Amino acid sequence: MTAITKSVDLDRRGRVAVLTVNNPPVNALSQHVRQGLYEGLKQAISDSAVQAIVIVCAGRTFIAGADITEFGKPPADPSLHTVLDIIEASPKPVVAAIHGTALGGGLEVTLACHSRVGVKDARFGLPEVKLGLLPGAGGTQRLPRVVGVEKALSMMVSGDPIRADEALKAGLVDEIVDGDLTAAGVAFAEKALSEKRPLKKIRDLDDKLAAVRGKPEVFANFRKSVARQTRGFRAPENIVKAVEAAVSLPFETGLKRERELFVELLNSPESKAQRYFFFAEREAAKIPDVPPDTPAKEIKKAAVIGAGTMGGGIAMNFANVGIPVTVVEVQQEALDRGLGIVRKNYETTASRGRLTMADVEKRMGLIRGTTDFNAIADADIVIEAVFEEMPIKKEVFAKIDKIAKPDAVLATNTSTLDVNEIASATSRPESVIGTHFFSPANVMRLLENVRGAKSSKTAIATAMAVGRRINKVPVLVGVCYGFVGNRMLHQRGIQAEKLILEGALPHQVDRVLYDFGFPMGPFAMGDLAGLDVGWRIRKGRGVKSPVADRICELGRFGQKTGAGYYKYDEKRNPTPDPDVEKIIVDVSTEMGITRRPISDEEILQRLLYPMVNEGAKILEEKMALRASDIDVIWVYGYGWPVYRGGPMFWADSIGLEALRDTMLGFQRKTGDAFWTPAPLLNRLADAGKGFLDR
Ligand code: 3HC
Ligand code: NAI
Repeated sequence: MTAITKSVDLDRRGRVAVLTVNNPPVNALSQHVRQGLYEGLKQAISDSAVQAIVIVCAGRTFIAGADITEFGKPPADPSLHTVLDIIEASPKPVVAAIHGTALGGGLEVTLACHSRVGVKDARFGLPEVKLGLLPGAGGTQRLPRVVGVEKALSMMVSGDPIRADEALKAGLVDEIVDGDLTAAGVAFAEKALSEKRPLKKIRDLDDKLAAVRGKPEVFANFRKSVARQTRGFRAPENIVKAVEAAVSLPFETGLKRERELFVELLNSPESKAQRYFFFAEREAAKIPDVPPDTPAKEIKKAAVIGAGTMGGGIAMNFANVGIPVTVVEVQQEALDRGLGIVRKNYETTASRGRLTMADVEKRMGLIRGTTDFNAIADADIVIEAVFEEMPIKKEVFAKIDKIAKPDAVLATNTSTLDVNEIASATSRPESVIGTHFFSPANVMRLLENVRGAKSSKTAIATAMAVGRRINKVPVLVGVCYGFVGNRMLHQRGIQAEKLILEGALPHQVDRVLYDFGFPMGPFAMGDLAGLDVGWRIRKGRGVKSPVADRICELGRFGQKTGAGYYKYDEKRNPTPDPDVEKIIVDVSTEMGITRRPISDEEILQRLLYPMVNEGAKILEEKMALRASDIDVIWVYGYGWPVYRGGPMFWADSIGLEALRDTMLGFQRKTGDAFWTPAPLLNRLADAGKGFLDR
């Protein structure tokens, strides 16, 4: 075996050369990998004893793509194109032997090979779109030639990988193999040699392209079908354009077009934000004083207290990944209602073809409902999701303390209460932690794990690990009112209310945020969640919100009553309502406010700058570990458009000095202390720095 570079070895198995890539953790195509492949291929091609070449990877996966850390740096030779050229032009067959995930540039390497074999659980995909990019090493030109235009478009625009059986059916792999992968790759190469199979170059295929040539409607229909999910993103349209080029241009010219479209994306703010976010998400898993080797408790059984809106959804998360979960309620009726909703949720998913009825029964079989609190005794984690009232929470935790296993993790799903006070109701506050799920808990990916003053490292490591196990994106936060996400959202809400009193209307405010990239604005969101919830809380606290209160007094609770800030048709399509406009104008008049036209720019700044300012306070108070964690929270919990990175990344891209000065401008105009810049924002603005480079 010869080491070509530090990450690529060349070996010989009889007349077959084997190039093995070993660049942990995911065999990304770093410069030394490209060079190793290039030099290794050159050697193998010029070695007269070699008649075929196999490319295989060590470790947990085949090449998972370009090395994302190299983007934005000066290009280092050889380029990936040079590597692919030598593979494809090789006079000796080159076979890719694939395990794990062949992604992005990794899949593109295999598409330049003459054959592909993969193990049964391998996955194949071009996820560049998730980084705001397109497959820039021939993927947009080669994939449609293999799997057809429509399948290629859908794979590249969703970015989701396909399984080996689907890849086999689509012609993307030639054979599914098992046993030792290198041996299987060599055996396949031997077979190709002995059968004297001609070298198959994907670039020469045309039948699947010819099938859609002269049919622009194929692209028009595709664009229409993805319009909603790709709104605001730049990469999907460039991908479609590149595939159009594949169909209408010769291969080499198509490659040039792909390059142009790739470079345009590489330099776009959208891709910069999405690449930043890729690492932000992974960074959030890292907690400086809780190293990765901190023992986390293995969760074999879970328990959830309360089968209401949140409890049912939380229980589903465990059942979905095969962990048995006990749900405890006070009364049988509430339990039946809660579990009935869980079943209905599963059945709806099944009716859409995304689960079988057998899956539904299997998952329901993992959820055990009971009114007997003692049933939590064997749970490794207990998650409380009862009413949001401190005395009830404390009573429940005192009870949990008596019954739960000594080493169980005790979690609360509180959204506003002090986790430390809840923990004080137990004899083991070190085992207590907050797990703040977002509604609907079975759908929303964000999980704010709330670190109490006494939460142990094991409790933290367990909450983070269990979050990932149930397919959430856990982010660690500290104890403060609203934690991170809702605390910032509250600031936005204050301004939304002021804006409509000063002259804007709900649909204008909502449109500005929708155009920014949010799925909806605050008023549409209020209507969706139900306006009565906040109304009841306000009444309990003796707080007023004049417009919202008046709307609720009319029985307009939002979508569920057919009217709220908007009125709704039977399909729940909203239209602005003159009655609401009248209420708003009346309240403005009663409050002595002279209404004025408010620009979209002012609306956006007034809604989002206060969030950034609150984010600065959160950072200074160390309620979030890092600015990028706040961004992860906003993208996964509140629909912040990922192509704008998150509020803190976005603020940096505006420039903190400009942002701070705009806030001071609002303060001068209104005299409102609300606009006082946070000390951290001031310091960074003065130093010409951003949140991410402080
Ligand atoms: N480049 C550089 N680093 C990468 C990387 C890449 N392509 N992919 C993953 N990593 C790093 C991660 O940042 C992480 O680092 P850390 O441990 O320091 O945080 C480490 O590898 C492990 O990654 P994950 O935690 O994501 O590991 P998983 O096992 O959960 O997932 C994976 C593995 C499915 C391969 C996932 O990492 C992934 O989806 N990677 C990105 C794949 C991708 O987007 N490829 C396309 C790149 S663009 C391209 O190829 C352009 C081409 O068309 C020219
Ligand atoms: P809910 O009112 O729908 O459900 C609470 C359930 O707890 C009820 O079914 C009730 O019967 C049960 N319960 C009350 N006392 C109990 C006890 N002693 N033992 C067992 N069960 C008991 O409330 P929801 O919305 O599910 O909220 C639960 C918790 O989750 C609250 O702390 C809330 O703040 C939090 N939360 C709620 C979110 C939401 O959007 N609804 C979002 C995030 C957190």
